[in-house]
Amino acid sequence: MRSSKLLKYTYSKVFAPATVSNAGPGFDTFGFALDRLGDIIEVRANNDKGVRISEITGDNGKLSKDIRKNTASVAALSLLKAIDADFGIDMIINKRMPFASGLGSSAASAVAAAIAVNSLLKNKLPDDQVLLHALDGEQIASAGDIHADNVAPSYYGGFTIVRSLSPVDIIKLPFSQSITCLIIYPHISITTKESRKILPKQVPIGTAVKQSANAGALIAGILTNDNNLISRSMIDSIAEPYRVRFIPHYEELSSLLLGHGALNFNISGSGPTVFSFFQNIKKAEQARVQILIKLIEIKMDADVFLSKVNQKGPEQLELVK
Ligand code: HSE
Repeated sequence: MRSSKLLKYTYSKVFAPATVSNAGPGFDTFGFALDRLGDIIEVRANNDKGVRISEITGDNGKLSKDIRKNTASVAALSLLKAIDADFGIDMIINKRMPFASGLGSSAASAVAAAIAVNSLLKNKLPDDQVLLHALDGEQIASAGDIHADNVAPSYYGGFTIVRSLSPVDIIKLPFSQSITCLIIYPHISITTKESRKILPKQVPIGTAVKQSANAGALIAGILTNDNNLISRSMIDSIAEPYRVRFIPHYEELSSLLLGHGALNFNISGSGPTVFSFFQNIKKAEQARVQILIKLIEIKMDADVFLSKVNQKGPEQLELVK
């Protein structure tokens, strides 16, 4: 390959985790990263300009190779453009999680892509800037609305608050490693675009007050490891009341989990996935058994899994000169 002034490496492979956004009262601002689940992006430098998607795996042929339609390629292109790159890239997208699920799949791809391209440059660009390129990619999944509540935890790991994007001001909280998250992913898809369309454009002042009270209290609960306070404050008054009707068996699953020690029951991002926190893994495992029995009883097709809040975030899996 022709020599480039910018390239320090020619091949990079990066994993970025799945995420739960909103996390109760933090509409468009709170989110946390999950263990294991996520996407892997591979980028290889070439002598052309721009991005080519050479392969997509794990998507059952559902995703387009059109570089304008994939969050990973849009994120990579945005970064390449910003540095006026004297090289191009071939990209392989390995989808290792469901999309349109409310688990931040589009963000995980965008984050892994932006980080992978930056690692070819030996991490020349600062995190804030790389994150904004990932966000450029993520935007195409949500009708141009800008919200980084999946991108931020996927990028930094842990539980994050997006206080502002201009300038970038993201806070990563220490989060209890005993608390275990139980996730139910019903096998239906709801796009973020669709589930945002049904939300009212205005929020009554009383609702805004309630939401900020719960958001503040949740952060206090997390910082003081007060599970009771976490439980009392995981209420979303802005989006969930409008979205529950799209989630199959919402009420039934909610009362079952709350009856088995769940601290909360909320929609993950824009759904259809739902999640509950448990005080520890033992309680989460017991509840998982109950949910699996219930799913058979109600004939609902869904995956149920457990995860801690992933503090580590993305991982560089390979980097070649
Ligand atoms: N916060 C977004 C929403 C989802 O609830 O529409 C992901 O960013």
